[in-house]
Parts: sequence; C-alpha cells; structure tokens
Amino acid sequence: MSVRFDHVSKRFGDVEALVDFTLDVADGEFMVLLGPSGCGKTTALRILAGLEEPTAGAVTIAGRDVTDLPPRQRDVAMVFQNYALYPHMSVYDNIAFGLRMRRIPRREIDRTVREAAATLAIADVLARKPGALSGGQRQRVALARAMVRRPRAFLMDEPLSNLDAKLRAQTRVELIRLHRQLQTTVVYVTHDQVEAMTMGHRIAVLERGRLQQVGEPREIYERPANLFVAEFIGSPSMSFFRGPLRQTDGGGAVVDVPHLPFALDPAQAAAARGAGWAEVVVGVRPEHIVLAEDFGERYAAATFEADIDVVESLGNELHVSLISQGRGMVARLPAGAPVAAGEARRFAVARGHLLLFEPEHGTRLG
Ligand SMILES: Nc1ncnc2c1ncn2[C@@H]1O[C@H](COP(=O)(O)OP(=O)(O)O)[C@@H](O)[C@H]1O
Ligand SMILES: [Mg+2]
Repeated sequence: MSVRFDHVSKRFGDVEALVDFTLDVADGEFMVLLGPSGCGKTTALRILAGLEEPTAGAVTIAGRDVTDLPPRQRDVAMVFQNYALYPHMSVYDNIAFGLRMRRIPRREIDRTVREAAATLAIADVLARKPGALSGGQRQRVALARAMVRRPRAFLMDEPLSNLDAKLRAQTRVELIRLHRQLQTTVVYVTHDQVEAMTMGHRIAVLERGRLQQVGEPREIYERPANLFVAEFIGSPSMSFFRGPLRQTDGGGAVVDVPHLPFALDPAQAAAARGAGWAEVVVGVRPEHIVLAEDFGERYAAATFEADIDVVESLGNELHVSLISQGRGMVARLPAGAPVAAGEARRFAVARGHLLLFEPEHGTRLG
C-alpha cells in the first residue's frame, strides 16, 4: 500500500516541527525517515498514523486522502520505542488483544498468534509476562502484536533504540528478513544512520522539520545533496575544507585551502567555474585519506603533512585523527597500517572522490 505526505506542515506554538513535507512511499517499500533528535520524525509518523493533525497539507494512504480519518480507520500499525506492552497480561494475551477486540473467532486468533510467534521466535515464551522477557523478546512481542493485525503499513518509531548493540544488530537483520517475507510497506523512523543505511530501500533525511534528500542508501552516501546530509551520513564523518577556487594553466582548477590545495578533476573544475562559485567547501570521506607512501602522487588530489593525534583500532580497521596546520580530520586506514600517535606523516587524498559544496547554502555541485 502506498503512502504519501503531501505538503504537510505541523506547528506546535512557535515550533515548526514539520515544514512543507512531501514524500511518496511506494507499495511494499521500506522507507526510513532519518535525522537528528527533534527534526520532526516522530511528528511525521504520528501524523501518518492519525495521532496528530497536520497544520497544513494532506496524507494519503493507497491513493485515498485520510487526513480526516481517525487512527483505527487507517489500517496502519505503529510500533513504538517503548513497546507499550500490557505488563499484567501474558505474551499470548498481549499479541491476541487487538484481535479479541475485533471479535475474531477464538480458533483463528490462536492460529494467527502462534504463527506470528513462530515467525519471530517467541513461541516458547507465550505464557510469560513481559517483565520476564529480555529487551529483544519484548521488542519482538510488540512487533508480533502489530503483525497479527495484518496492517497495510507498519510505522516504526525507533523500535531498536532500547536494545544493546549486539541485539540491535541481530534484530536489524530479523526486521529485514521479516519485511522480505511480509512485503508490507514500512515507514521506519531512526536517528541511527547504520539502521537507515542497512534497512532502508530509500532514506529520507530530515533536518529541523525540512526534508533534505530522499534516495537509496548508496546514493545518499555517495552523492549527498548538501553539507548537512554529507556530514550526517558516514562514520567517522567527512572532513571539510574551505577555500577560494583558483584557475590553473591548462584549464584545471584548484581549491586553494591554505597549505592544503586540492587539485580538481577537469570536469569538476569546469562545473565549479560554470556555477560561478568563488569559494568552495571540499568534502573528503575518511576512506579517501591514505598514507602518501602507499600512493602514487599522480593519483592524489592533495598531499599534506599531518600529526597523528589519536589512533582508534576497531580490529578490522583504524580510525586515525589527524591535525594538519591546525585543522582536524579523520582517516580510515587498514588494520596494521604503520601509524602511531605522536608521529608526523605524509598523507594523500585520493583523486576522483572529492565532493564540492557551495559554502553559503551548502548545496553540492553536480
Ligand atoms: N506535543 C508537542 N508539543 C510541543 N512541541 C512538540 C510536540 N511534539 C513535538 N514537539 C516539538 O517538535 C519538534 C519535532 O519533534 P519530534 O517530531 O518528536 O522529533 P524527532 O522524533 O525527530 O526527535 C521538536 O522541537 C519537539 O520539541
Ligand atoms: Mg522521535
């Protein structure tokens, strides 16, 4: 079932929680709303569920305007961060609750509950109370309760945020599998870019109530629409450098960052000139900063000397904080790379991977 936000705005007094938000979610799609705390994600989800009324705009579900319909007539199921299970009821009764309210025959309820419990691997805890479950089990009970209603869309508001790191990773995989099996439309809210990147067919990035970009995870990573998205996506974050655009002989161009000039590829140079930018912000992902000794100079957009400040080993890779001419940046190097805190080394920035942004509005070139 498709879902559409059509120029939706929401004000709470002085706060613009959502501003002219338009988004189409296709039938069966897993759409993630991603952004920092307070950017309007929950508000968008609650408006879709019918728990909040938009100040302006409309919401359509399966092509029908539901803006004025109460929640129970929208046929969507919401899974919240805190699960909101009934503590005095067994897991079985928690899952069956909504079905009993709808006066569905007992035998059918039983079959539906057991099927959902089997799918989510909680069949062995149906007799327990929520208090006797782990966080991950509780989370699956909440999912099962939403699932048995056979909604036309699942709305999930940070459903993994109460789980520890290992369980979160497991449950992420389970949700991906569950979605593949059910093929139901999902609108999933999170501030966690890893969840967004791994689970979303597409990601909608929000900041301060405004949609910044919608796209597939890889597109968002490789071609962020602006500085906000570029900085928000990717861990460690991109490093940014600002400088004037200067022409060079032979039709090239350099972003003349003091002590760290970046040579642009001819196509990028031409595009930056064409856009009429005087100054440019260069964005570099940590995986594109490498040790210069490993690297032919002609493949480098820039080379520079830097002091190694901190080396964090993640086992399979190193995150290396560098300081060059007072500027901080982070490189991601292979495990075992010969670097140590306190050393000064030469680094290179790989050609062909620079992202260019306009400094005032943050728009990316291209
Ligand atoms: N019921 C409310 N009354 C007043 N302000 C609210 C209410 N709900 C949300 N807000 C404000 O709207 C903004 C967006 O909130 P929310 O949608 O909860 O963000 P997110 O889920 O992305 O963290 C925040 O500034 C928040 O304080
Ligand atoms: Mg929220």
